[in-house]
Amino acid sequence: MNNATRLQYLEAMGIDVRFTVHQAQTGVVAAVDVDEVPSIKQTVALVEASAKAWDVLEKQVSGCKNCELCHSRTQTVFGAGNNNADWMFVGEVPGQSEDLAGQPFVGQAGKLLTEMIQAIGLTRESVYIANILKCRPPNDRAPKVEEIHACSHYLQQQIALVKPKIILAVGRVAAQTLLKTNEPLSKLRGVSHQLTDIPLVVIYHPAYLLRFLPEKRQAWQDLQLANTIYQKIKTL
Ligand code: URA
Ligand code: SF4
Repeated sequence: MNNATRLQYLEAMGIDVRFTVHQAQTGVVAAVDVDEVPSIKQTVALVEASAKAWDVLEKQVSGCKNCELCHSRTQTVFGAGNNNADWMFVGEVPGQSEDLAGQPFVGQAGKLLTEMIQAIGLTRESVYIANILKCRPPNDRAPKVEEIHACSHYLQQQIALVKPKIILAVGRVAAQTLLKTNEPLSKLRGVSHQLTDIPLVVIYHPAYLLRFLPEKRQAWQDLQLANTIYQKIKTL
């Protein structure tokens, strides 16, 4: 890795690059105990390990044949956004637009999801977006239980790598899969859940909101609930 790339990685991780570089070049560490500062080598090793894990996972997914959806897909839809995001949105399955683009939430529902993300002051690029399934079911039929079982370990690994501060389950399938429940969405929305130690909020799927406009007010309430939870965590 060259110096410029390394500095970009360190900056992305919120490390004071000027200080670290100065320290690396001169060995002078003013008013800081050297033992408490991770060495530049350790930091770079961590960043490289994470980049490699993402790479390996993405390659595994793109060649995956663990369920029958591998036969009908154009390509897999891995996930997109900021690998270190605080906010992670988990949708259901790729549709036609996503299958063609190889990107999650790029069709009509995706446009509305982008607006929902912006409504809480975020950008699409600052969050991470993935789906329960990485391949489009033929004719957009509902995903089968065995497909969800075959695929969900990829999402678990994405969550482990992103380490989000909050997860938004987008729609019923994502909510029921992540929370391992059969409760209807109406019971799951409007309250805070936990996925191991990560707070999880369930929101209406934008494809549903496009059909049932009156629910938009509740959708806004759910986003506000998520934002309130997130702001509380941030100040801890
Ligand atoms: N609906 C989803 O749940 N995910 C997508 O990526 C697109 C539409
Ligand atoms: Fe593999 Fe998931 Fe695609 Fe099935 S849906 S082929 S498990 S990536």
